[in-house]
Amino acid sequence: MQDKKLLRVLGGETVFPPPLWMMRQAGRYLPEYRAVREKAGSFLDLCYNPDFAVEVTLQPIRRFNFDAAILFSDILVVPHALGRDLRFVEGEGPRLTPIEAAEIPRLGEVNNFHAHLAPVYETVSRLRAELPQETALIGFCGAPWTVATYMIAGRGTPDQGPSRLFGYREPKAMAALLSKLAKVSADYLIRQIDAGADAVQIFDSWAGVLDEASFEAWCVEPVAEIVRRVREKHPATPIIGFPRGAGSLYAGYRERTGVTALGLDWSVPLSQARALQVGGAVQGNLDPLRLVAGGRALDEGVDLILDALGNGPLVFNLGHGITPDCPVENVDRMVKRVRAVQG
Ligand code: CP3
Repeated sequence: MQDKKLLRVLGGETVFPPPLWMMRQAGRYLPEYRAVREKAGSFLDLCYNPDFAVEVTLQPIRRFNFDAAILFSDILVVPHALGRDLRFVEGEGPRLTPIEAAEIPRLGEVNNFHAHLAPVYETVSRLRAELPQETALIGFCGAPWTVATYMIAGRGTPDQGPSRLFGYREPKAMAALLSKLAKVSADYLIRQIDAGADAVQIFDSWAGVLDEASFEAWCVEPVAEIVRRVREKHPATPIIGFPRGAGSLYAGYRERTGVTALGLDWSVPLSQARALQVGGAVQGNLDPLRLVAGGRALDEGVDLILDALGNGPLVFNLGHGITPDCPVENVDRMVKRVRAVQG
């Protein structure tokens, strides 16, 4: 029998209490993360040094015994491996040199993509060796649209205006960029699975800013391409899709992309989540600020999700990443509450 609860649920089984992990579970809310981060120097040094990356991946597992560990890295190592410059500015976030349409055909030509990412693959294989047998290891990549938004704007923006405009003005260049990213991201996930990842998640954090036609062309189609390519090599590995903010466009996303499970943000009503669960596992979707608030707000949020979704295949998670200001004791409270309930 499969001893990893996460994989049982992704396979469609109902397991209660549900398996549990948190997006961004290795991060600044943990004092032990901040200590390693300090030692590493820059955020990218942390991502590319397997000693550090393994250590910070394991920290939340030691503390909370989550059912899954997620590889510590960042979605932006993919454009970095394609030769785009990347740095993280303290307190502000990522900075890249904005890409121009004319540069897209030559993207990645002179760079050895997999050699650049070799430390990530080493991190995955060391993690698989060090993790307890029952803890699943999740690999990940950014979805092409979300990665492209940072490549085009050179930074985070509130509504991805620069990338939407780029796509409308230069549709061929946008299609070429997304297609290139889909190919290399599929290769990247395949290597992570080769190295020992049990499941993978595709983060489309900016899916929610698009109209219906652009969502289809820029989110659904490139993710479907990744899924097709990964399945050719690894047909049995579950793939979680997380099109954050997709709203009513969540309906049909699983079927059209081929992902195994749906990651839901907290704006998805639980009644809609219940309907989505008919097609397979769902993951989510506690508001990360309920976790920051703690107390009654937290307990109520946990109970509502368990009541609505606990009778079907559910992976308990937040609706987006944990924030750096979150009190560690609230995470403890959430874990205890999810695991205390009896089905
Ligand atoms: O979930 C995990 O614990 C695994 C590690 C992980 C990180 N980033 C570490 C990180 C994962 C899965 C990501 C994904 C990621 N990175 C996404 C998609 C998910 C999401 O949150 O929407 C995006 C959009 C990025 C790009 C990115 N990386 C931004 C915009 C920022 C700056 C914002 C911030 O929180 O500081 C990062 C930096 C980053 N990635 C940090 C961590 C722990 C904080 C950097 C630090 O420690 O100094």
